[in-house]
Order: sequence, then C-alpha cells, then structure tokens
Amino acid sequence: MAPLRLSLLLLGASSVLASPARVVRQETVYATQTVAAAAPSSTAWNAGAVSDYPIHSSCNATERAQLTRALGETVKLAQHAKEHILRWGNSSEIYQKYFGNASTGEPIGWFEKVVNGDKAGVIFRCDNPDGNCAQEGWGGHWRGSNATSETVICPLSYSTRWSLESLCGLGYTVANGATNFYWASDLLHRLFHVPKIGEGAVEHYAGEYDEVIDLAQTHSDEAVKNSDTLQYFALEAYAFDIAVPGEGCAGKWTATSSEVVASQTSVPTATSSEVPSVTSEAAKECHTHADGVEHCT
Ligand SMILES: *[C@@H]1O[C@H](CO)[C@@H](O)[C@H](O)[C@H]1NC(C)=O
Ligand SMILES: *[C@@H]1O[C@H](CO)[C@@H](O)[C@H](O)[C@H]1NC(C)=O
Ligand SMILES: *[C@@H]1O[C@H](CO)[C@@H](O)[C@H](O)[C@H]1NC(C)=O
Ligand SMILES: *[C@@H]1O[C@H](CO)[C@@H](O)[C@H](O)[C@H]1NC(C)=O
Ligand SMILES: [Zn+2]
Repeated sequence: MAPLRLSLLLLGASSVLASPARVVRQETVYATQTVAAAAPSSTAWNAGAVSDYPIHSSCNATERAQLTRALGETVKLAQHAKEHILRWGNSSEIYQKYFGNASTGEPIGWFEKVVNGDKAGVIFRCDNPDGNCAQEGWGGHWRGSNATSETVICPLSYSTRWSLESLCGLGYTVANGATNFYWASDLLHRLFHVPKIGEGAVEHYAGEYDEVIDLAQTHSDEAVKNSDTLQYFALEAYAFDIAVPGEGCAGKWTATSSEVVASQTSVPTATSSEVPSVTSEAAKECHTHADGVEHCT
C-alpha cells in the first residue's frame, strides 16, 4: 500500500509541475519559429576541422602512401590504448604496471588527442629542411624552434620501421625491444613532441624500460605524461589484446639490452633480405628538442 500511495503522490506532483512547464513550452515554440526563419546560415561549430595529419607536398607518391599507412597505424595504436583504459580502468595489470596508482583521465586524454585532436598544421614532411637526415641513424626529427608543429621523416624510416601487424613477431618483446621498432610507436613519440598534441607536458621523464617501470611506482604523476611510458603501455596493451590475444609479448627485461643496442651498428639496406635486429638500427634514434638538446634512444 505504501509504495502505491507514494507513486500516486508522485503522479500528482508531476501533473502539478506540468502545467507551468506547458505554458513555457508554448512560448518557446513561438520563439523558435521566429528564429528559424532568420538564421539558417549559421556554420557548423567545427567548420574547418582537420581530421587527418597533413602530409607535406615534399613527400612523393610512395612516401605519402607509406606515411599515410603508418599514421593510420599510430591512430589505431593510440585508439586501442585509450579503449583498454576505458574498459578496464586501473584494475588492468598493464595499467598498473606503467601508470601505478595514477588516475586514468590523463593518459586517456593524451591518447585521445592523438586520435581525435584537431590536426591542422601538424605537418609531416619528407624534404630535409634542417639538414639533419644526413646524420647517421636519423629516421626523422621534430623541427623544434624551426617549426614547432612540423616533423621531418627521413628516408631511413621507410626501410627500417615495422608495421603493427608484425607486433610480437621478429623476436620483439615489449621489455627488450626498442619503442621505435614499430613505426606506429615511433610516430606516437614524434607526435607527443608537437606542442599542439603533447602541450609541452608530455616529455621525457624516464626513457629505458626499467626506468619506466620504476617511474610508475615512484612518480605515477610523471608516468602518465612520460612519452616512453605512453608508448610502452600502448604497445603492451595492443600486443596482449589484439596482436596475440591473451598472451602478448611483454618479455622480461634484461639489463644487457641497452649494451646490445650500443654495440650493433649494422644498417639494413634495401636489398638485404635479412630482418633488421629488433634492437639495432631502429633503436639508434635521435632528435633535437626545442632547447637544442639532442635526444637519442
Ligand atoms: C620517393 O622518394 C624516395 C626517397 O627519396 C625514393 O626512394 C623513391 O623512389 C621515390 N618514389 C618515387 C615514386 O619516385
Ligand atoms: C583505482 O581507482 C579507485 C577509484 O578511484 C581507487 O579507489 C583505487 O585505490 C585505485 N587502485 C589503484 C591500484 O590505483
Ligand atoms: C600513489 O602512490 C604514491 C607512492 O606510493 C603515494 O605517495 C600517493 O599518495 C598515492 N596516490 C594515490 C592517489 O593513492
Ligand atoms: C634549425 O635550423 C638550423 C639552420 O638550418 C639548423 O642548424 C638547426 O639544426 C635546426 N634545428 C633543428 C631542431 O633541426
Ligand atoms: Zn623525444
């Protein structure tokens, strides 16, 4: 009896409330009709939005095709990283491994910017305006103070960076592989340097895998905006959820891996049938930051 009486009371209340609301609604209808006649010319709120990363005219047909594909993979990688966090939040072991006890909003946001942020001016070019591509081992660089929103991709990238389809293949593991072995994670790093994406907040707080794991436990506030952490997390989530479902290729970090990188100097050639080593050429990646500091990983 009591619940029934309560709902009757509620019905009564809503019909009492309804009468003044109905009066308001009638007035609104008049106003809408007046405005509708006068304002059909308003533009869409997002007129001029740029949803694809612009590729500069200096890129020829093959470079453009390959860059388009690689940037598509970058968006796919970031999209999945975001979706993994949205689905599992901080209960994900992968999340806890890389971001510790940090709240999830910030990393979701950085990945979302890569996927859905406005891309006007975030240009990728194929000429060599700053002369850096001649330097051995350079796959590309952020133009820094010469053009903060621009990234140069050097010829080396086209012959050394791997597709996401080969994630967990070729001997790669997340723990011991270079973050720029796959083109998608390499470009993720480059995008975070562009102020429009990384806002100068995503930076290099820790680089090597073991430092990244450490940062999650000691400074999770920095882990959520650490460029390498975001790359490692995206790779491991994609590997575990998509590439080799339920298994992935996290690997076990070995302290010698950075020495291996330093001692290997072989540059794969276009005619070589050999697979470039996971940790060799791809790992020898340098770029110059706005303050002139050269950064090699
Ligand atoms: C585009 O440029 C690259 C690097 O200069 C070159 O290797 C490639 O052959 C060019 N592609 C075409 C279609 O000319
Ligand atoms: C996960 O988030 C919840 C809700 O904010 C919080 O109570 C909990 O401590 C977090 N757990 C970890 C491991 O960070
Ligand atoms: C996360 O862990 C750090 C270090 O263990 C601690 O100082 C901090 O208060 C924790 N933050 C939250 C939100 O639990
Ligand atoms: C900017 O341009 C100058 C002059 O061409 C060059 O020396 C410098 O290395 C460039 N900076 C970057 C970050 O490439
Ligand atoms: Zn960097």
